[in-house]
Amino acid sequence: MARRAIVAANWKMNGDLALVDTMISGLTNVKLQDDVSVVICPSSPYLSEFVAKRNSNNLSSVIHVGAQNVSEHQSGAYTGQISTKMLQELSVEFVIIGHSERRRYYQETSTQVAHKVNAVLNAGLTPIICIGESETERATEQTEAVLASQLQPVIDEIGIEKFIDVVIAYEPVWAIGTGKTASNEMAQETHKFIRQFLAKANESVANKVPLLYGGSVNSSNCEELFAQPDIDGGLIGGASLQVEQFKIICSAAKGK
Ligand code: 13P
Repeated sequence: MARRAIVAANWKMNGDLALVDTMISGLTNVKLQDDVSVVICPSSPYLSEFVAKRNSNNLSSVIHVGAQNVSEHQSGAYTGQISTKMLQELSVEFVIIGHSERRRYYQETSTQVAHKVNAVLNAGLTPIICIGESETERATEQTEAVLASQLQPVIDEIGIEKFIDVVIAYEPVWAIGTGKTASNEMAQETHKFIRQFLAKANESVANKVPLLYGGSVNSSNCEELFAQPDIDGGLIGGASLQVEQFKIICSAAKGK
């Protein structure tokens, strides 16, 4: 079983042109272990600049670029939306889909997430599908049912075989931006549940899907989280805006 590790930075609605420069120059000497991909997802207005600076610093084999969202539609009268084709043209390779902030503030449903995943795969891009339970759902022991209900529409839409080209990020909503990280044991147990859920549909595909943990990952807790057998890296928010801290997190990941 060979599974690559991924450390993805979700800048959310943060950062500026100066951070594009600082991040690119900071990552020029990042030390990575075997089979690790680093993905930076800046806000859309900075994608083009980020790719240009990355290329001129010869870092395209080290740093991949991702978007934070995309439309499920191909083109047309959808003011404010961005299409997969536009991302392709900018050499974007990854797209975060269904982040809990989009589900919560923009009412994205798991059905819409499934349509977006389909559009992203059809364009030859890699979706990073975010799933996760709220604090109340965890407290009332609904975590597994919630995760299953977020994954099943995607399986129904694209078929399990296509998960070979998918990345899943498990982000418990209560751990995002709160400093409350899931314990190593809780994170592992939940990642294992996700892998077993996929394995019910296709075991060999399930064993190849990178599963990332997200929620208050920092330079102190990354190593133990990434050492868990079913955790293949992380989706990093706040700590990804601080170059030195982000580099430590990148260095802690390793393919399994
Ligand atoms: P934090 O790392 O800031 O908790 O954010 C996690 C996240 O939402 C990444 O998508």
